[in-house]
Amino acid sequence: MVDVDDVVMGGAADTKPAAQQAPPARLQPWVEKYRPKTVDDVAHQDEVTNTLKGAIATGVLPHLLFYGPPGTGKTSTALALARTLFGPDTYRDRILELNASDERGIKVVREKIKTFAQVAVGRATHQAGYPCPPFKVIILDEADTMTPDAQSALRRTMETYSTVTRFCLICNYVTRIIEPLASRCAKFRFSALGQGAMLDRLSYISREEDVKIAADGLQAIVDLSGGDMRKAVTAMQSASQFYAGAEVTPEVLVDIAGKIPAEVKEALWSAIKSGSYNKIVAAVDDFMSSGYPLSTLLEDMQEATVADTTIPDHKKADICRRIAEADRCLIDGCNEELQLLDLASVAARSCCSQ
Ligand SMILES: Nc1ncnc2c1ncn2[C@@H]1O[C@H](COP(=O)(O)OP(=O)(O)O)[C@@H](O)[C@H]1O
Ligand SMILES: [Mg+2]
Repeated sequence: MVDVDDVVMGGAADTKPAAQQAPPARLQPWVEKYRPKTVDDVAHQDEVTNTLKGAIATGVLPHLLFYGPPGTGKTSTALALARTLFGPDTYRDRILELNASDERGIKVVREKIKTFAQVAVGRATHQAGYPCPPFKVIILDEADTMTPDAQSALRRTMETYSTVTRFCLICNYVTRIIEPLASRCAKFRFSALGQGAMLDRLSYISREEDVKIAADGLQAIVDLSGGDMRKAVTAMQSASQFYAGAEVTPEVLVDIAGKIPAEVKEALWSAIKSGSYNKIVAAVDDFMSSGYPLSTLLEDMQEATVADTTIPDHKKADICRRIAEADRCLIDGCNEELQLLDLASVAARSCCSQ
């Protein structure tokens, strides 16, 4: 569990210049406040953390590639690893952290990353209790957003300066990292957090923050965040702040999360099941004027289709394929209403022509 004293920014933070000081704990986003501080604090990723603990003990570290869905602890693990290797006072000097919001075209790789990579580490100012190995760590968060050219440029840098630098690439999609780069790294897969791990962590945070939330509220957060811990923690903080003092109920959470209320979905689903074109047009019209995003509805429809026992499997496959097409079309900027009308018609045909 997180060391709360550490979290509330005692010790190390006080030595920073005023401009860099963290905001008071009360104003901090909970995702930052409860970010795991050590590799041990990272929940649910035992395979990853056990291997990394071996590396920490020996101080021998290969280049790393962390991949997996959002909110599963990749960035936290990279930072915790650096902190555990170098100690809380030194680690900021030993890491360069770049994420997608920083410019990371080929020019930056050639200049900024290379400059940091090639500088040898000075005589280590060892902190007691930390291995402080003689290299720096460059954390490239969201590395899958780097262009293939920039990734290629990185490959040389990685090789040339590997004696004094280790890279930690972080991404959601490992397939978007070019093979020559991926093959130079030890790969670690992060999986979506399980219900138990999320419930434990959320109830710990709710106790620390004095959030009034019952077991069904916690369960609702877990359900709506789909294994993404960042989403879960943010949902709890928003709910408790918007409805200050009141109990956080599943209804409040549905509201905060921008989820589509059950009755809106049911109206559309029953129009589809009726097989009547006029009803479908009316229901689609209602949905569009309700203002909920279609992409959210698509996720819900896919779940509802899979769970529906009255639709034969091959028909489910047809509907799911059409949902996937609609999703793709929306990304390409197609008209939402036409997509939904088409999808609803396909679903109606599948449901009614058994
Ligand atoms: N495995 C985990 N154990 C505990 N907390 C987690 C874990 N994964 C994510 N979190 C929470 O979610 C927030 C975001 O995590 P982060 O490491 O940035 O995720 P990622 O980089 O995988 O998207 C953290 O601040 C922390 O509060
Ligand atoms: Mg991240």
